[in-house]
Amino acid sequence: RSLLFAPGDDEKKMKKAGGIGADSVILDLEDSVSDSRKDLARDLVCSFIENIKSSCVEYYVRINPVDSKHHHQDLEQVVASSPAGIVLPKCSGGAEVKMICQKIQELENKYSIAVGRTAILPVATETAAAVFTLGTYAGASMRTSGLTWGAEDLGAAVGASVNLNSDKSWTSPYEMVRALCLFGAHAAEVPAIDTVMADFRDLAQLRIVCDKARQDGFTGKMAIHPAQVEIINNAFTPSENEVAHAQRVLEAFNSNPEAGTLQLDGKMIDKPHIVQSQRIIKLAESIAAKSEN
Ligand code: COA
Ligand code: MG
Repeated sequence: RSLLFAPGDDEKKMKKAGGIGADSVILDLEDSVSDSRKDLARDLVCSFIENIKSSCVEYYVRINPVDSKHHHQDLEQVVASSPAGIVLPKCSGGAEVKMICQKIQELENKYSIAVGRTAILPVATETAAAVFTLGTYAGASMRTSGLTWGAEDLGAAVGASVNLNSDKSWTSPYEMVRALCLFGAHAAEVPAIDTVMADFRDLAQLRIVCDKARQDGFTGKMAIHPAQVEIINNAFTPSENEVAHAQRVLEAFNSNPEAGTLQLDGKMIDKPHIVQSQRIIKLAESIAAKSEN
């Protein structure tokens, strides 16, 4: 549900980020770290990950993009430190994921890390060209653990002066890109993860944005500030009412195994309602299992 960023050159935030309740923490080597501190941040992040004893938080590292001079060193050192995965910014599409997957496999072999351990979470909409490859992630790599999008870099890439309307909804180009990421993720059968909300003091708006994202089919959202985490977790956890309704839908079909369509509370239910109800029950069960650990 929640993936909290912490800058990779800030030890205090990195330590704090793991204790906030976020499902995942993303230690950042990219945009939140200045060029002069990239080497320092890489060393800090890798030794931080190597020293994690056991944790119910999944630690990812956002490395620098493939065309950056820091990329090669980032990938090698980060994979060797064995995080849950890497976040791949400015990803150009499924072909790039395939290429990175091969490199990771070589590094896992080189550093005696279980092959397949390192997941890849691409940020799939940060260049104009990347918008046209959102349908190419299906089948690229078993390591792909989700698909997410970004609005800030894309805006800079096209020279947009704003990406939000006055009511803080996305302007139409970003609304479209967000939807393409959603469908690209589902086409690749991986979770769709919504992008960060930079205005971290506006928690009321965050609630609205999270509810909308969940209704649309996103299963989580990235965060930049601790205050955002609880709201995100709550929004992406199915409510008791939703679970109860899903159970009633499944029970109705279990009691009528021959029926293709039924009515529940005066509304038609059929195959898509079964699929959606199964999805809600599965999600609720996986969240419950996680909170027991
Ligand atoms: N992870 C962990 N701790 C964080 C945090 C984060 N992402 N953001 C803030 N905190 C901590 C602060 O260190 C502070 O701790 P303290 O009370 O022990 O001193 C507390 O939470 C309150 O922080 P606050 O004063 O409200 O914010 P700030 O001015 O310290 O930081 C940002 C604001 C935006 C700079 C900060 O939230 C941040 O660095 N976010 C992540 C940025 C990032 O990684 N961006 C890349 C992805 S887009
Ligand atoms: Mg960026």
